[in-house]
Amino acid sequence: MKSIIINGGKKLEGEVTISGAKNAALPIITASLLCEGEHRIANVPSLVDVKTLARILRNMGVDIELTDHAAVLDSSRLASPEAPYDLVRTMRASVLVLGPLVARFGKARVSLPGGCAIGARPVNLHIMGLQKMGAVVDIEHGYVVARAKRLKGAHIYFDIVTVTGTENLMMAATLAEGETILENAAREPEVVDLAHALVQMGAKIEGAGTDVIRITGVETLKPMNYRVLPDRIETGTFVIAAAITGGAVTIRDCNAGHLDALLTKVSETGAEIRPGNGTITVRGNRDIRPVDVKTLPYPGFPTDMQAQFMSLMALAGGTSVINETIFENRFTHVAELRRMGANIVIEGRSAVVKGVAKLSGAPVMATDLRASASLILAGLAAEGQTEISRIYHLDRGYESIEEKLSALGADIKRV
Ligand code: UD1
Repeated sequence: MKSIIINGGKKLEGEVTISGAKNAALPIITASLLCEGEHRIANVPSLVDVKTLARILRNMGVDIELTDHAAVLDSSRLASPEAPYDLVRTMRASVLVLGPLVARFGKARVSLPGGCAIGARPVNLHIMGLQKMGAVVDIEHGYVVARAKRLKGAHIYFDIVTVTGTENLMMAATLAEGETILENAAREPEVVDLAHALVQMGAKIEGAGTDVIRITGVETLKPMNYRVLPDRIETGTFVIAAAITGGAVTIRDCNAGHLDALLTKVSETGAEIRPGNGTITVRGNRDIRPVDVKTLPYPGFPTDMQAQFMSLMALAGGTSVINETIFENRFTHVAELRRMGANIVIEGRSAVVKGVAKLSGAPVMATDLRASASLILAGLAAEGQTEISRIYHLDRGYESIEEKLSALGADIKRV
């Protein structure tokens, strides 16, 4: 099994270019299921999750070609609106095929998802929304089976803000009869990006980016030619890479406006952050100040940056409290960071991080996607060698991370 070896202590310097956003590419690819014809999607990151979704669509009979950061898809010959367990279990976002399939074909059979081991992560709100739109939904042998002649517009309120839930129902509503109102909808930039792609396809959507989204259903949609926005979590991970190594890095092809909460917090730690036109320049400071964070739905501090920020706090000159409010089991990186000398105590949904003067390289194990990134960051700053195993998690969400970090001067390799 592959692992990553890092010899820590190198300051990162130079420029890095950000890839397209995984969490926007996935729903935008599934949006292509909403109509016949050839869709062209640009700036698609080359990631295992994207390849997994491509396999799921191919398995249904969709023609899909992934080439150099582009996807060309045509679902005219889709034969079976089904997503089987063996493909879905590795990626929770597979559930994003559910809304488009029911909307266009009147039926879908999608395995209940697995995904990151960071909590229960149910899909009850996706199902509730489809039921409100008139679908009959049953759970049969581990599969969600949904049927509807034509979905009907509905007024849907989410008890919890759900990103893929909002996306699934927004896609379903584009072809429903009448108006759908999604209340307490997710406001993430990836939801807005999906809405832009859908509008280009002819959908009628207002309010994406606010917590009330109104969709007026149309009879048919047309294929899109769309470019996916930059990945804000990859961007944020490089921001912390610069800060934690005391380096100076310019990050290109990114959108600082999507990272306000993170950039504010990282600058409170003492790093200098200069947003430019599609760029962010970060200059780390040797003295890292402790800063508390609480994860929240967008525009709050992203849960997908919590683990990485904790690595930075592990080296702060004082104590910080990191409160995780989105997922109940998202501290699996803590035990691994402790193996590197971090002083972290978990109290319920909070981690109390007492900064230490140095981390020391150690063999550690990646447990989920963002936890893997936090271990890489800790390894970059640690004294000596860190070996990270189970790095397949990393390839789900970070494109060419060793190459990008090596180009900035990190001593990192895959073995
Ligand atoms: C998406 C992101 C993921 C990010 C997460 C939170 C994608 C592909 N993934 O995941 O990277 O960490 O948002 O920002 O975009 N919940 C329910 N019932 C539901 C749905 C969700 O109780 O039907 C709960 C979840 O258990 C969790 C919370 O809602 O506690 C938020 O989850 P959600 O926003 O749905 O996460 P994902 O969309 O899966």
